[in-house]
Amino acid sequence: MTNWQELEHKYFMRTVDRTPVTLVKGQGARVWDEDGREYLDFVSGWAVNSLGHCHPSVVEAVTEQAHILIQTSNQYYTIPQIRLAELLIHNSCLDKVFFCNSGAEATEGAVKLARRYGKLHLNGAHEVITAMGSFHGRTLAMTAATGQSKFHQPYIPLPGGFINAEYNNIEAIKAATTTGQTCAVMLEPIQGEGGVNLPDDNYLAAVRAWCDQTGILLILDEIQTGIGRLGTLFAYEQYNIEPDIMTLAKGLGSGVPIGAILASDKASVFVPGEHGSTFGGNPLACAAGYATLEFIIDNNIAENARKVGQYFITKLESLRQKFQFITDVRGRGLLVALEFDRDIAPSAVTACLDRGLLVNRLKPNALRFMPPLTIGNAEVDEALGILDKALTSVESTVDK
Ligand SMILES: Cc1ncc(COP(=O)(O)O)c(C=O)c1O
Repeated sequence: MTNWQELEHKYFMRTVDRTPVTLVKGQGARVWDEDGREYLDFVSGWAVNSLGHCHPSVVEAVTEQAHILIQTSNQYYTIPQIRLAELLIHNSCLDKVFFCNSGAEATEGAVKLARRYGKLHLNGAHEVITAMGSFHGRTLAMTAATGQSKFHQPYIPLPGGFINAEYNNIEAIKAATTTGQTCAVMLEPIQGEGGVNLPDDNYLAAVRAWCDQTGILLILDEIQTGIGRLGTLFAYEQYNIEPDIMTLAKGLGSGVPIGAILASDKASVFVPGEHGSTFGGNPLACAAGYATLEFIIDNNIAENARKVGQYFITKLESLRQKFQFITDVRGRGLLVALEFDRDIAPSAVTACLDRGLLVNRLKPNALRFMPPLTIGNAEVDEALGILDKALTSVESTVDK
């Protein structure tokens, strides 16, 4: 039998310490490894498989599109991207869209758009304020935008033009704003990679008001929070604000790579030649995006995420009563974290894996759950049963 993991070690740059399992098949909220072992998937490709694995609507749309037209250049009009653009715009507060291939490309493009806006309307302002603890992607500029020094250290010197201000502190954003220099604030509504950090109820509204007062743009990075994950189609709906620019990726294409920048008419200042992409918005990716988004909207999947997420969080709170080392349960919709008072997340991930549940190690002392948005309470109960057993086994190995 081929040893795939050995071959990976031979051929791959080591950018990730992979979990020692080779996945070969997925269906709904479940995946199978090469030995036929089944796992309940509460990672979902890092919050990508919103409809679960290989959802029939997406498979059908992609198969059909693959027979018709996969790629043209963006020199030409193609129908799937126009249909997806219309669906996104009709269901969001924004007016125009640009398609790319990933989250980092979307945030990078959003910053370029804000810089163009700054040049045209804010006396050449070019700086973007982001939050400490944020994550905006892995390009060099988005590494600088990301407010976590562990991502900065290996690549210093980083591109300039970013100020990382304290998260959840409007005064820090005000202090970082310089007239003629600041063109935008870019924030995740809830910080995902940084720890599933929720803002205070009035923080985003205060940032919106500050942007309105100073004329700078508000970019919301909804790459992880958008497309239903938090229990509404977009997270901004829950905070009663509207961004000038919003970025999407992850859950939009059900695993077919696609990213998007959405902007208000006011902020849509690119002119031909200023931005572009070879693959961005190609017919195949947009067919996947359309099928995903249409299913989510027509079947109110965001509402399912809200209800099931509430049930999940309540049940995790009960688990907290049982295990003294659980210090926090937090999240919204189906973006949820469990924090411990010690660094047991790696052993918890392994103990869950051994019992058939995939979970994400968010930090050495925290787990993150991002299951498909289509799951029901039954899958939550199943996952909690496994988690309970896994934490019991971890508990027996830690100092009490
Ligand atoms: C909020 C946010 N922005 C940007 C990114 C980068 O997306 P990608 O990995 O598709 O480049 C991520 C990825 O985790 C993210 O969570």
